[in-house]
Amino acid sequence: MEQIKEMYKNVAVFGQGFVGLPLALSFAMRGCNVYGVDVVEGLVEDINKGITYHKESFEGKTIQQILNEQLKAGRYRATTDGVLAVRECNNIVVTVGIPIKNGEHDLSDLIECCTLIGRNLKKNDLVLIRSTVIPGTTEEVLLPILEKESGMKAGVDFYLAYSSERIAEGKAFEEFAYMPTIVAGINEESAKRAKELLEIVCKTDVIVASSIKVVETSKVFENVQRDVNIAMVQEFARFTEALGISIFEVIKVANTHKRVNLLIPGPGVGGYCIPNAYHYLEPKAKELGVNLDILKLSREKNANLPKVMVEIFEKLLKDVGKDLNGARVGVLGLAMKDYSNDDRISPAVEIVKILRQRGAEVLAFDPAVVTEYSFKVNTLEEALKDVDGVMILAKQKEFENINADDILKYVKPDVVIFDTKNLFEGFKKFFEDRGIIYKTI
Ligand SMILES: NC(=O)c1ccc[n+]([C@@H]2O[C@H](COP(=O)([O-])OP(=O)(O)OC[C@H]3O[C@@H](n4cnc5c(N)ncnc54)[C@H](O)[C@@H]3O)[C@@H](O)[C@H]2O)c1
Repeated sequence: MEQIKEMYKNVAVFGQGFVGLPLALSFAMRGCNVYGVDVVEGLVEDINKGITYHKESFEGKTIQQILNEQLKAGRYRATTDGVLAVRECNNIVVTVGIPIKNGEHDLSDLIECCTLIGRNLKKNDLVLIRSTVIPGTTEEVLLPILEKESGMKAGVDFYLAYSSERIAEGKAFEEFAYMPTIVAGINEESAKRAKELLEIVCKTDVIVASSIKVVETSKVFENVQRDVNIAMVQEFARFTEALGISIFEVIKVANTHKRVNLLIPGPGVGGYCIPNAYHYLEPKAKELGVNLDILKLSREKNANLPKVMVEIFEKLLKDVGKDLNGARVGVLGLAMKDYSNDDRISPAVEIVKILRQRGAEVLAFDPAVVTEYSFKVNTLEEALKDVDGVMILAKQKEFENINADDILKYVKPDVVIFDTKNLFEGFKKFFEDRGIIYKTI
């Protein structure tokens, strides 16, 4: 275990979700004493019992093993007592997010969190914001709250910094350690303190930017560019479809160009990060009088993808003389992306909703997603039994060993398969030889 400077020994991480829990454990693994703070009692209880449903791993250990090790070592503990955590720690990291509902952002969780931190802040504490925010939030919204509640001056009595969170779920530990981390402070000393804290976990570059707004804005741009790229490759997919060639092959070929990086089209854009990114830029752009037409159109197009997917599927059913209304549909995968347990803003869930609204009976199987849904089933057989159509919407490890016979033994003989993930591409000929309609995106 590394030698940690005394002033960085105690860390409180607010928010114990997809980012906060692995981040808190990353500090604990390196020898810090960490409080993981969350407002959801059940979540805190589960975590303290060693239970989490996240699909993370690091150096051959699952997050469940890491969590249990750190609990046992006494270096990590989850709590709902934020006051205690701030009193006992002088490094306070915030990973509480800004939810978006119907395009509108809601800062209340983040404000509530910073109010509590401000009220209990001590002289020389460091507050490090890691949430993804509307550019300007740290200095224009959170700093005044922290100063007012603490009665202290940021940069003089306490340190304030912002560092963007860039991990992808499923690779959290790896990316905390080996993805360059960007940080800025409200003054040089704040940036220095935050950099030293981050270096406990980040083993590659911790880059100090000139201002907090640069880091906040860069983070949102990083996500928005993926949103636009995905909207673009969806348009490419419609083009290649009409031309009768494979989008996956075109992308593979195009990406051999050293300066091209096309993303892979799927059934939509999900999760907490990419769909929200535009909505973090929009309010500031409005305030500044800046036009975001391309970004807005991309977001609208991507938000509409679940509907487009259902329309494609409906047409496949029509080709075998069936109506979506009354059809029995098996769905594989409900997560917002492959190999994830996260079903927040999941296009797969949205697609199921639309299918049901249109009168289809849906049986969906996803062994990784823990959310209860009335349409969820527990086995492949239940999902595929006597179905008229199958939609593959997210990959999971458990789907990798499914072969064509496994599918055909359950489904109706004239089944149609819409594989938005290219999971069964290898069986394309097998299906076609048996007169079954099999379509990728
Ligand atoms: N999930 C990702 O892959 C990812 C990647 C990069 C950045 N981010 C950003 O990181 C932040 C967190 O994302 P997440 O996916 O971990 O979200 P999450 O919803 O999984 O976790 C946030 C947690 O904060 C808790 N919370 C709410 N109010 C609180 C309060 N007042 N005090 C303490 N805890 C409180 C919630 O109960 C929740 O458990 C967001 O800003 C997000 O945009 C996420």
